[in-house]
Amino acid sequence: MKDSFCPSPQAGTNDPERSAWFRSEKRSRVLSLDTCTRTLPLGMIRLRAVSSLPFAVEIVTEPHQIDESEMRELPPLDSMIHLKTYDDVLEAFVSPDMLQGGHKAKSWPLSKDTLLTLDGEPHFNRRRLESTLFRKKARERYDRILQSALNQRLTNLGSQSEVIVTDLPVLARSALLHVAASVIGLKSPDDIDSMDRLRLLSEPLATGNNLDWMSDVDPGAVMRDALEAQASFAREYFWPAYDEYQSTRAEHNGKDKEFHLIRLLAEERETAAGRELWTDDLCVRETVLYLTAVTTSQSRAISHVVDHLDRWFVDHPQDRDLVADFDFLRSATIETLRLHPRGPVQIRKAVKESKLKSGREIAEGSYLILDTRAAGQDGLVFGPDADSWNPHRVVEGLRPYGVVFGGGAHTCIGLGLSIGAASSEASDSTPGTLVRLLHDLYQREYPTRPQRST
Ligand code: HEM
Repeated sequence: MKDSFCPSPQAGTNDPERSAWFRSEKRSRVLSLDTCTRTLPLGMIRLRAVSSLPFAVEIVTEPHQIDESEMRELPPLDSMIHLKTYDDVLEAFVSPDMLQGGHKAKSWPLSKDTLLTLDGEPHFNRRRLESTLFRKKARERYDRILQSALNQRLTNLGSQSEVIVTDLPVLARSALLHVAASVIGLKSPDDIDSMDRLRLLSEPLATGNNLDWMSDVDPGAVMRDALEAQASFAREYFWPAYDEYQSTRAEHNGKDKEFHLIRLLAEERETAAGRELWTDDLCVRETVLYLTAVTTSQSRAISHVVDHLDRWFVDHPQDRDLVADFDFLRSATIETLRLHPRGPVQIRKAVKESKLKSGREIAEGSYLILDTRAAGQDGLVFGPDADSWNPHRVVEGLRPYGVVFGGGAHTCIGLGLSIGAASSEASDSTPGTLVRLLHDLYQREYPTRPQRST
């Protein structure tokens, strides 16, 4: 399974400076952790007027002890019930009898008791609390921050007259980190060096989250690196921002209108019950969930969208001007995620015996693979050309994004942040961060055909 979504970091590396960097022993440790967060070879993209960006920041590691007994094993995949049709997958997502089964194995030290792994009432309460971070006003703020961060990044990278190669997922991730910083309430989103270091810290964390799907790595070493990065993040970013918020809180005097995670956590910790629940470690883990969630799926997806669009325009040149149209870019994004979902599977555990509408029997205690990639290509739902990419695809009777953002209680909390609302839905003017990135890059005519490795 690994090969399908963890390409080698070397693939597609055609920039000599970066190739040398890839080979360098000094960096190899970080690189080996980088494999699951990259979308190479689609990731290498020629961006006009953007200079090559060597990764010159090192992660300073400290010896970190981990309790490997916390890193559990998932049952063997071939012992799980594999759901592949759209209807089965959706039914399992929304079923109250099927609880979160993923993110609780080798990546547990990172995901323990975070929103992603809670169920039932604790999940409901946590979700209600954190949903405030993604209300319309907040999303408008993130949209402004992203525009300005992308602008600043591109300006820093070179003049309009140059044609140089840089890596689209890295560019996207760097810009999106400014949004993550704002969601969290970090204090230095304008400082590019600080954000670059944050990006490097976030990479081993994103890799640690994927540990359950990595077969040829030493899980203990990957987790150790992730936890070291987490400790550095806590020390350098999270606690200074938290302490600063606390010390200036009196000044806000209830007038602070900006929601961010640090504010939510600080307020929660005002009561004894809140302090008992929100230990220092949990505060950091919950924050890291958002640090990686805002950046990872989106920076991975953007290369796929650009690649599909690029191929599409060869045969449909009349659509080229639609890159200025947010609705078109949103459809292109959804269509891309349908074929390249995050994961691409989600895991659930049945806590009760049940029977799906398709007649499939589910025994209590069994694990299920919700195959969102297969569900996204279900011909009965998406038509006979379900395996092809068509940004004008119309699927009657479905939410346009189907199951690419999951479903039921654990539906992606960042859905609206990422792709905004369709123009027909509400008076929501934010296009979503992924759609915004595509739009603003195309407006500058940056994305051109990705360079492929031979
Ligand atoms: C391309 C963009 C994205 C995709 C495809 C995606 C996909 C998903 C999927 C499939 C799930 C469900 C996981 C499960 O059921 O086990 C999920 C959950 C989640 N996503 Fe996203 N996501 C994206 C962007 C984001 C963003 C931008 C955020 C930032 C807020 C985010 C935060 C989360 C969180 C916190 C959860 C857990 C929700 C819960 O358990 O209640 N995601 N995402």
